[in-house]
Amino acid sequence: MASQEREDLIRLDLLGHAPAANLMLSEKIKELLGSGRTVYHLAFGQSPFTVLESALESLALNACKTAYLPVAGILELRKAICEFHREFDALDLEPGNIIVGPGSKQLIFLLLRIFNGDVFVLSPSWITYRPQARLAGHEPIVISTEYRHKWRLTPDILDRALKKSSAKNKLLILANPDNPTGTVYSEGHWKDLVGVLRNHKVIVLSDEIYGRLTFSGNHCSLAKCYPEGTILSTGLSKWASAGGWRVGYHAYPPALRSLLNAVTNAASNTHTCAAAPMQYAAVSYLSASEETKAFTFHLQRILEAVADYCHSHLAEVGVKAVKPLGGFYMFPDFEAIRCALAKRGITTAQQMCDTLFEEVSVALMPGGPSFLRPLEELTVRLCFVNFDGHGALKASEAVGFNNPLPGDFVEKYCKLTAEGIQALKKWVVTQKNSVS
Ligand SMILES: Cc1ncc(COP(=O)(O)O)c(C=O)c1O
Repeated sequence: MASQEREDLIRLDLLGHAPAANLMLSEKIKELLGSGRTVYHLAFGQSPFTVLESALESLALNACKTAYLPVAGILELRKAICEFHREFDALDLEPGNIIVGPGSKQLIFLLLRIFNGDVFVLSPSWITYRPQARLAGHEPIVISTEYRHKWRLTPDILDRALKKSSAKNKLLILANPDNPTGTVYSEGHWKDLVGVLRNHKVIVLSDEIYGRLTFSGNHCSLAKCYPEGTILSTGLSKWASAGGWRVGYHAYPPALRSLLNAVTNAASNTHTCAAAPMQYAAVSYLSASEETKAFTFHLQRILEAVADYCHSHLAEVGVKAVKPLGGFYMFPDFEAIRCALAKRGITTAQQMCDTLFEEVSVALMPGGPSFLRPLEELTVRLCFVNFDGHGALKASEAVGFNNPLPGDFVEKYCKLTAEGIQALKKWVVTQKNSVS
C-alpha cells in the first residue's frame, strides 16, 4: 500500500513531518560502508570513549533488578545527582526537584508537551528542538544568533526576540556547550543575560548534556546564575559515554514544582520510569567522583586537541568556524568556495555535502533548514569524534596529567578524523583552484 494513501492516519499538523535528518544520512553511510568503501564520517556521532569500568561492574551486578521503579527515579540516584552537581558545578539541588528519565530527550519532550506558553529556540540549534516542539504542539519562535558573536545570545538579541511575544509564559531552549556550534557560555556571558531573562520571567531549559566536556574544565551551569528560572537538562549520554543506557535527568527550580509534577504525571502515563539496572549503575557512575575527574580530564584534552586540529586546518584553506570550546561539534562556513561551487551549479549546503560525499567520501551534515539556517548559507555541522576513543584515552593516560599531548597526537590516535579533515581540505583547495 502506497504511504500517501494512508495520510489520513496522521494528525494534520504533523503531515510531512520529516524523519530526523541524521537518520537518513546514516542509512546512506551504512550502504557505502557495506560496499567496502572508506567513509570519513564527520556528520554525526556518539561518544567514542568507553564506559568507566566500575560502572560496568555495577550494571552487571544490577541486571537482576527487574521491578518498576518510582516515576521520578530512585531516591538513591536523585541524591547522587545532587551530590555530583554540588561537587562539579557548585549547585544546591534537592532530590525532590529531580526527575530521571530514559534519556534527557524524552524529558524535554514531556516538558514541551505540558508547557503552556511560547517556546523559543536558537538558530543555529540542535536539530531536535524544533521537531520536538512541533510534535508537542508548539510552533517555536526562532532567535537568530550571529557568527560575529560566536553564535551566542547577546542581551540585545535576546531582549528584542522576547519582546515580540505577548505570552505570559516563555520557555527558551539552548545548549551549553552547544550542538552544533561548539560555543560555550561562561559565567560572564550568563551574568550579561540574566537581567533580560529576569525581566521577561523566562524559563530556560538549559541543555548541559555536554557540560562535563567543556574543554577548560570550567563549565558554568546557568542554574548557578539564574537558579529560579533554570531547568537543568543533562545525563550520562555524552561525558559518561553511555548514550544507549538512556539515563537522563532534569533538575527543576523549587518555584516550578507544578511543572515538575505535571511532567512526572505525564511520565507515569508514558515511559513509567528509566530502566532499573541503568538507574542503579548510574548511582555508581555518579558517585565515582575521583575516577570521573581523571576520566573527564582526558576526554576534555583529547577533544580539545581534535577540535583545534579541525579548526586550524580548515582555517588554513579559508573555511571559517568558531573555535569549539566544548562538546563534539563545530559549524564551519564554506562561503570561501561559493563562487567555485556556483560554477558547478551548487548553491546550497545540502548540494555541497552531497557532492563532497560523492567525490571524496567525507560525510558532513548540511546546515540549512535542519539547523534553522537559511537554505543558501554554506554552513555545515562537523562532528569530530569519529576515532578510536579507547586508544586515544589510553594514549592520553600514558602521557600523564602534567605533560601536554604530543603535537602528532591527533594524527596518531584520532586518525580517521584527521584523515577526513585532510581529505576535506584537499577538496576545498581543488574547488578553489578550479576558478583561479
Ligand atoms: C544537545 C543535545 N541534547 C540532548 C541530546 C540527547 O540526550 P539523551 O541521550 O540524554 O536523550 C543530544 C544527543 O545527541 C544532544 O546533542
